[in-house]
Amino acid sequence: VRLIELTVNGLTRQVAAAETESLVGVLRREFHTLAVREACGIGICGSCTVLVDGEPRSACLILAGLADGLTLETVEGLGTIEDLHPIQQAFVDRSGFQCSYCTPGFILTAKAILAANPNATREEIRDGLAGNLCRCGSYTNILDAVLDAAERLRAPAADERSTTEPAT
Ligand code: FES
Ligand code: FES
Repeated sequence: VRLIELTVNGLTRQVAAAETESLVGVLRREFHTLAVREACGIGICGSCTVLVDGEPRSACLILAGLADGLTLETVEGLGTIEDLHPIQQAFVDRSGFQCSYCTPGFILTAKAILAANPNATREEIRDGLAGNLCRCGSYTNILDAVLDAAERLRAPAADERSTTEPAT
């Protein structure tokens, strides 16, 4: 067991962890980020997805001993119940889930996809989400939700343009 320092959703803490423990357990135990969920445990399903410096990574494949100094984001760092992040709200409005076990992973991967490409097409989103699996088979609604989210995230820029462009 050793001390490692992690920054999770803006909170930096030193926590004790076994070198060979996966980051999923450390996050759930020490940071109470219960939306980081282990399913396959071998990097295939994406349910344990976290963002490391904005990039989606499978937390089940990151050993605690190698995680010292990482800066992470989990779905708990997005919106609140009262004020959901636009991607979360789009998943709710488009019913982008059934049991929701996979949902945090999809939302974080979607966030990374749309940060890199705000105008991503349905095809590009589908490719970007290839590492996230949904046992309930909600894929059509998930794609609808991410496309909807992309539109919501672009909206402020459109609003800004409309206030700065001269009226015709
Ligand atoms: S639990 Fe990590 S990828 Fe499946
Ligand atoms: S909604 Fe159940 S696994 Fe995706």
